[in-house]
Amino acid sequence: MEILVTYLTRRQNGGVSRRSEERSAEAVHFGRSTNAEVYLPDPRIRFEHAVIHQRPGGLFIEVEKLSGVRVNGRLAQNTPVGLGDVISIGPFDVTLVELPDGKDIAIEVELVRPLGDDYAQLAARSTVRLVDHGLSRRRLAWIGFFAVLVFFLIMPIVFFSQYTPVPAKDTVGFRPDTVWDSGPISAPHRFISDQCNLCHQKPFVQVMDGACLSCHANTTHHFDAAKPEIAGIPDFRNLAARKCNSCHQEHNGNQAISVSQERFCTDCHGDIETTLPQAALKNAGSFDKDHPEFRPTVVANSANREFKRVSLDDTAALVERSGLKFPHELHLKKEGVRGPKGKETLDCNGCHQLTKGAANFDPIGMEATCERCHQLVFDPRRPDRTLPHGQANNAQMLIREFYSDYGLRGGINDVQDPAPAFERHRPGEQAPVTAQRQTNPLEWADQQAQRVADQSFGKTMCGNCHEVSYGKGKGPLNWAVVPATVTRDWLPLGRFDHSAHFDMLKCSECHAAQSSKKATDVLLPKIAVCKDCHGGEKASNKVPSTCITCHDFHLPGAPKMGAGMPAGNTPEGEAALSRNNMPIVGRN
Ligand code: HEC
Ligand code: HEC
Ligand code: HEC
Ligand code: HEC
Ligand code: HEC
Ligand code: HEC
Ligand code: HEC
Ligand code: HEC
Ligand code: HEC
Ligand code: HEC
Repeated sequence: MEILVTYLTRRQNGGVSRRSEERSAEAVHFGRSTNAEVYLPDPRIRFEHAVIHQRPGGLFIEVEKLSGVRVNGRLAQNTPVGLGDVISIGPFDVTLVELPDGKDIAIEVELVRPLGDDYAQLAARSTVRLVDHGLSRRRLAWIGFFAVLVFFLIMPIVFFSQYTPVPAKDTVGFRPDTVWDSGPISAPHRFISDQCNLCHQKPFVQVMDGACLSCHANTTHHFDAAKPEIAGIPDFRNLAARKCNSCHQEHNGNQAISVSQERFCTDCHGDIETTLPQAALKNAGSFDKDHPEFRPTVVANSANREFKRVSLDDTAALVERSGLKFPHELHLKKEGVRGPKGKETLDCNGCHQLTKGAANFDPIGMEATCERCHQLVFDPRRPDRTLPHGQANNAQMLIREFYSDYGLRGGINDVQDPAPAFERHRPGEQAPVTAQRQTNPLEWADQQAQRVADQSFGKTMCGNCHEVSYGKGKGPLNWAVVPATVTRDWLPLGRFDHSAHFDMLKCSECHAAQSSKKATDVLLPKIAVCKDCHGGEKASNKVPSTCITCHDFHLPGAPKMGAGMPAGNTPEGEAALSRNNMPIVGRN
């Protein structure tokens, strides 16, 4: 059977749109099944609702029992149909129309009783309106408005204006002004996160630098912007004028309180050799690629405390003149070195000790570190008598007193005596006194003291470890010890923390101390050593390191920030703080 099905849809403006489909099949099935020749998509229609067959007597419609199909208004079950008949199947009307050429049956289908009507009726019956329950929309809006006003404006303002700060440990419960909070406070500030007024000192006024400085009183600038060469460059001048919170943003959790992007620094430092040659700084960029070799600050002249920065590449100029003589190699010999109780093997921490928690080593002290092996014995006949370390003049006086005492009382032998060895005498027994000592004991004592001062004392005792300059001495001495400068911060422009590296590396991987024969050697690691582990800020196979991993921004030498602030800003903050028992923090 060749079938033509036309679906009619009435538009709102009265027009009709048609969509036709051609089929060929044994029979014409009507139903919700997609296999049906006439597809009737409606929940009230069965999958197979009715079928029209061609039989010898013409077309017959066969209907499932109780399907309620009507032909021209009458219920049908197995009924003949013909041209012009209207078959009602559920909400659809199916009309048999004029046959076009070559077709056995032509059908028009129209949805005449759409589902929407019933649904709309049902929905209308179940509507619940606010008015029916005594609530008008307007009244609700007012209630909401006042609730917002009270909870989010009046209560916080009243609280804020009447608030007297109490020590942080006493604050309990909910503070109404925290409803204004605009995001989580950074971890370092979380301890004040419920005391908004420590930062927001005045309501509806931006956070002022004074509020920050009331705690961070010692924060310094990056440089002295008053220097003419710096003030002449707008970018540099502007940096000094920026407010704290333009760099340190709050309420972003931990993300923005710290300024960690390399870009921030490299914008200036990438080409500072051209923009500011006076600064005598090398261009610096990302640590893995564009960072200059370290230039430790070494003592150029210890006598007048002159320092210079020398690159670790510049081996010829890399000399430390600390005023001290000290051969590492001698003390680190594998077979050990002579100590008071025989040979002992020293390792680095025999002399360099780290206080727990400290970043770098305790300073070396002669008394604490060296003296047990290098006692200041000035007369080999009395090894138990030692000099105090430090002041040469005091030592000289002590020596004179020592010999005067012996000159008068006896007790040790005289060098000019024919018997050179120690005098043997029992305790309490007076030693025999020589002829010279008897006639002029003090003259003898002076001679002895001068001998020590000129020879062993200067050259071989103090001079063992110190550089000595002759002709500069005071009192009876014609020499003086060159002031010693034991450098503790070799890289003052950068930061290095020994305790963060101990577990990973041996001392010798960074310091060639084992083989160093002279105190003038500079035993610091080159940048290449650090680069084995430290990469740029985005490094993935190394420790990601951005500039502030190793550098400070607020630099110690620069002027303090906040000078010239609005009057009253800082004292107010400080007063609030002292009432709060808050710590005053800063770099010092
Ligand atoms: C450590 C200091 C600090 C504390 C504590 C702090 N804030 Fe802030 N807050 C800031 C800074 C900085 C800004 C940045 C905007 C500015 O300069 O005012 C800011 C901005 C805001 C803003 C956005 C409005 C604006 O001025 O941009 C709101 C709202 C706010 N804070 C509410 C609070 C509330 C509420 C608390 C207490 C729960 C609080 N803050 C505690 C430092 C702080
Ligand atoms: C009530 C005192 C107080 C106030 C006000 C305060 N801070 Fe702090 N701030 C601290 C303390 C305490 C620390 C933690 C110090 C530490 O860990 O060494 C800190 C840490 C910091 C740090 C270091 C963060 C880090 O990653 O180590 C920055 C930056 C900072 N504050 C900036 C500010 C700024 C900007 C303001 C003003 C909006 C401000 N602070 C207001 C007390 C305060
Ligand atoms: C031009 C940007 C900038 C401005 C403005 C600025 N800082 Fe900083 N600050 C930094 C950078 C960069 C660091 C180093 C990285 C870090 O810890 O955030 C830093 C570090 C800090 C630190 C922690 C480490 C340290 O050196 O003590 C504190 C505290 C701090 N700043 C407080 C302040 C205060 C208070 C102000 C305002 C008076 C301020 N800063 C203004 C950029 C800035
Ligand atoms: C606006 C430009 C500018 C920015 C941004 C800047 N610097 Fe500087 N920096 C300078 C200038 C200029 C000097 C030299 C100051 C002088 O000679 O007194 C300097 C000096 C230094 C020094 C040498 C300090 C000294 O004691 O001699 C170091 C290290 C340094 N900056 C590191 C940094 C780091 C790390 C950052 C990023 C957190 C940074 N700088 C951001 C301009 C900048
Ligand atoms: C007997 C004591 C002693 C021992 C042991 C010792 N040092 Fe030293 N070290 C010193 C003294 C003293 C100085 C300072 C003198 C100077 O300026 O060279 C010094 C300085 C240094 C310095 C400063 C940089 C330099 O160039 O002077 C480094 C680094 C150093 N020692 C590393 C080591 C290491 C690593 C070891 C172990 C392998 C070690 N030291 C063992 C006494 C010692
Ligand atoms: C464990 C004992 C011991 C300690 C601790 C020690 N030394 Fe020595 N030091 C010696 C001995 C032993 C010698 C002689 C080695 C040799 O000649 O073979 C020596 C030699 C020296 C020399 C070379 C003297 C010369 O005649 O060339 C100097 C300088 C020196 N020590 C300085 C120091 C300083 C400074 C300290 C402390 C930081 C120190 N020593 C700690 C045992 C020690
Ligand atoms: C065994 C080595 C040794 C001998 C011997 C020695 N010193 Fe020292 N001296 C040191 C060391 C190491 C320092 C630096 C550490 C310290 O200050 O204790 C120092 C520091 C000094 C200082 C302080 C330097 C300054 O500028 O602060 C003076 C002064 C001094 N010695 C004088 C003397 C005199 C005088 C003698 C002779 C009586 C002497 N020393 C003998 C090792 C020695
Ligand atoms: C892993 C540690 C580390 C990192 C990361 C690092 N530096 Fe350095 N930087 C140092 C050390 C150490 C020095 C030597 C300090 C000295 O000479 O006193 C130094 C020196 C400098 C100097 C002085 C250069 C000279 O000799 O004139 C500047 C400027 C500088 N760094 C800027 C930066 C900048 C900008 C970044 C980020 C792009 C950065 N540094 C990253 C450790 C680091
Ligand atoms: C990752 C490399 C590294 C390792 C490992 C290392 N150091 Fe250092 N050390 C340095 C650097 C970098 C400096 C310069 C830091 C500064 O003075 O600013 C330094 C400085 C020193 C100084 C001179 C400054 C001071 O604090 O007196 C001594 C001494 C020293 N180191 C001893 C040691 C000893 C001992 C060990 C082993 C226990 C060791 N170092 C391990 C890198 C290292
Ligand atoms: C064997 C690998 C290794 C070498 C070599 C090394 N570092 Fe590190 N460094 C680390 C690791 C790992 C950390 C810890 C990183 C962390 O805690 O996030 C670190 C941390 C640091 C820190 C931060 C310390 C802190 O308190 O957070 C500085 C600064 C630093 N290194 C500087 C240097 C310098 C300068 C050198 C070269 C003299 C160097 N490092 C060599 C592995 C290394």
